[in-house]
Amino acid sequence: MTVQQPTQKPHNPCFSSGPCAKRPGWSLEAVASHFLAGRSHRSAPAKAQLQELIDLHRELLSIPDDYRIGIVPASDTGAVEMAMWGMLGARGVDCFAWESFSQAWMADVTNHLKLDDVRTFNAPYGEIADLNAYDGTRDAVFAWNGTTAGVVVPNGDWIPSDREGLTICDATSAVFAYDMPWDKLDVVTWSWQKVLGSEAGHGMIVLSPRAVERLETYKPDNRPLPKIFRMAKKGQIVEGIFKGLTINTPSMLAVADVMDALGWVKSIGGVPKIKERSMASYNAIKAWVEQSDWATFIAEDEAVRSRTSICVIVNDPWFLESYAEDDRAAFVKGFLKELDKLEVGYDLAMHRDAPAGIRIWCGATVEPTDVEALLPWLDWAYAKAKTEAQQAKAA
Ligand SMILES: Cc1ncc(COP(=O)(O)O)c(C=O)c1O
Repeated sequence: MTVQQPTQKPHNPCFSSGPCAKRPGWSLEAVASHFLAGRSHRSAPAKAQLQELIDLHRELLSIPDDYRIGIVPASDTGAVEMAMWGMLGARGVDCFAWESFSQAWMADVTNHLKLDDVRTFNAPYGEIADLNAYDGTRDAVFAWNGTTAGVVVPNGDWIPSDREGLTICDATSAVFAYDMPWDKLDVVTWSWQKVLGSEAGHGMIVLSPRAVERLETYKPDNRPLPKIFRMAKKGQIVEGIFKGLTINTPSMLAVADVMDALGWVKSIGGVPKIKERSMASYNAIKAWVEQSDWATFIAEDEAVRSRTSICVIVNDPWFLESYAEDDRAAFVKGFLKELDKLEVGYDLAMHRDAPAGIRIWCGATVEPTDVEALLPWLDWAYAKAKTEAQQAKAA
C-alpha cells in the first residue's frame, strides 16, 4: 500500500481539543487592544469589561434574561464542581457517563461527595448512556459533549420541562457549537479554551432561577465549602458574581483574549455562522471516513456523533489482528508523531483514557480547509507506518 506524500499542509496545524486553535487572524496585538494591564479587576474599567463579557455571552448564546451568568475560578472543572458541591444532596442524583470527564463527575458524586441516593448510567466509548432513564424527579449530572469520546447528547427531549430535579450540564465543548436548550438546563458550565480557542483558567457558569433557589434554600449538611465554591451567603445568592465581581482575581489577559474571541464570533455572524464552520469540518471528515479502508468514527450512530471533538479509530483488519488492545495506542501515536514533526498536525492523539485513535478538534476556530488538508496526510502517515511495520515483521 503506497500513498504519495501530500504537498499541501494545513495552514494552521493546531487540532488540539484544548486549549484549542486560536481564531483565524488571531494576534497578540489584537488581544493587547483589550488588555487592561496592571489594573485592578475591581476598578471601574475592569468591572465594565467583565460585565460586557457576560453580556456578550448572553447575547451570542441567547441565554434567557432570568438565567444568571457568572465567571468563576478553575475553568470548566471549577464551575462543574462548585455546582455539585453547592447543590447536590437535596434529592437523589442520576449521573450519566460515557467518557473521561463525565466519569470524573460521577466519581466526584459517588466517591467524594459520597451521596446516599445515586444512580449511575454508564456507556462505553462511542456510545451514549441511557438518557431516557431520567424522569425529572431527581438531579442529573452529565456532559453535553463527551470531548474524549466524540459522543454528544442529541437533544434535550429526554429532560422533562416540568422536572423537579436540577440538570447540571458540563457543556465545555458544546456551547458555541450546538444550540443549547436552556429551558431544559439548570446549571451549564464551560471554559473559554474550547470552541472560542481562548486562554483557560476561568469557567463560565449559567444558573436557572431554580438553580438559584436551590442555592438559597439548601445548605449541604457537614460539607465544607471552600471560598471559591461559595455562590450564596446567608441564604442569598451572591449577585456580584453574576455582574463581574468575581470571587477571586481573574487573569485580565485571559479576559482580554476571550473578549477578542467573542468579538470575532460576533463579526462573522454569531453562533449560526460558527456552527456552520464546525459542520463543514465534520462533513469533510465524514466524506473521508466513508471512503477510507482503515479509519472509522468511534461513534457509529450519527445522531450522537460530535461535531467538535471528532474521534476516529483504526478499523483496518491488519491493524486489529496485529496489535493487542494495549499496544494500539503506541502505533497510532507513532504515526501521528510524524505529522507533528512535519508541522502538519499537532495533538491529534485520542485522550489518554480513550481507546487508541485520532481526535480532530473541529470547533469553529479550526479552518475547515485545514481539516480537508490534514486528511490526505493521515492516509499517508498510516500507510507509511503500516508498510514499515510489515517490512519489520518480514525481516
Ligand atoms: C467535557 C469536558 N469537561 C471538562 C473538561 C475540563 O475542562 P477545564 O480543563 O477547562 O476545566 C474538559 C476538557 O477537555 C472537557 O472536555
